[in-house]
This record gives sequence, C-alpha cells and structure tokens, in this order.
Amino acid sequence: MCTYYFFRRTGYFFKVKKTGSPNYIVERGFLVLAIGNDHIGLELKQAIIDLLCEREIKFDDLGCHSNTRVDYPVFAQKVAEGIVEGTYSGGILICGTGVGISIAANKVPGIRAVVCSDPYSALLSKQHNNTNVLALGSRVVGAELAKMIVSSWLDAEFEAGRHQTRLDMISQIESGQSLDTGK
Ligand code: RB5
Repeated sequence: MCTYYFFRRTGYFFKVKKTGSPNYIVERGFLVLAIGNDHIGLELKQAIIDLLCEREIKFDDLGCHSNTRVDYPVFAQKVAEGIVEGTYSGGILICGTGVGISIAANKVPGIRAVVCSDPYSALLSKQHNNTNVLALGSRVVGAELAKMIVSSWLDAEFEAGRHQTRLDMISQIESGQSLDTGK
C-alpha cells in the first residue's frame, strides 16, 4: 500500500492511497510558496512571480522590495522559518549567485535548500533530496532558464524509499548525532 502526492500545474495537490482498486484521496490542498530575495535578486524575482501567477500557484513575497542594499540572510531566515513553522510548503530564494542565501537558509534546522542553475539538478534535488527551498542566482541564470528551473522543481515529486533513509541521516547530523558506525 503506497501513498503518492500529485502536484498539478496549478499548485493543487492531492495525496492518494493506492490500495489496488479503488484508490482513494486522503488529503488535498494548495501549495503555498514563500519568496525571498536581496537587492540583486529583485529583477529575477519578478520573472518568477510572473511564472507563479501564470501557473496560479499561491505565494507570499517576503521581500526585499527595492534596490536599496540589504543583507540576504534576513530574507533567507524569513522564508526558512515560515517553512519549518508550517506556513509555507516551500520557498524560492534569489540573490546574486544563490550561494549566500542558500547557505543562510540551510542553517535553519529542517531546511534543505539547493542552489541550481540547471533544471536537471532542480528535478533530482526534489526527487532524491526532498528540497524545500530552491535558490537561484540572478547573476548566473537568465529569466527564461530560471523559469524552467522553477517549473522543473515544482513538478518533481520526492521518491522517498532509500532517499528517506539518507534524509533521516542528515537530520541526525543536524541534531548533533554521529553517523560513524566504525566501518
Ligand atoms: C550581494 O552583493 C551578493 O553578495 C549576494 O547577492 C549573493 O550573491 C551572495 O551570495
């Protein structure tokens, strides 16, 4: 008996319990994303917002909202804490390279942020690593490529199984446990 999530283009999801016949829906809801960026990420953010609006995916824009210089960790923390508190299903962060803002987000326990500049890594990061934050670099990718990366990430589903075992190990590292079995 397996359980699967299906995400539709619109961000509507439903969780199906596969019992053979008939399969039945056990949960349904809407994907709500948080978006955060620094001043360098502002322009690319607008392209991502256009994509989310096209796909009718709900989101909250947590800033920043102007070209005035800001510090990216502030926005990484807002988005990351919103996710671990359960307000958001995931987040998209944008800075110049996506590096600083993803490092900052990953300091919040429970966050698995990935910085991607290609759709394949974005897909695998969800299928294998169940990433809950996608970071983009506005100095690295153009708007059209960034939209492909975001779509690839949104459409992918976590495959669980052996990958869940590894995520559990990552959580153990996060909580200070040693994974060293002496081998
Ligand atoms: C800001 O100048 C820049 O450092 C930031 O946008 C980002 O690239 C950091 O990783």
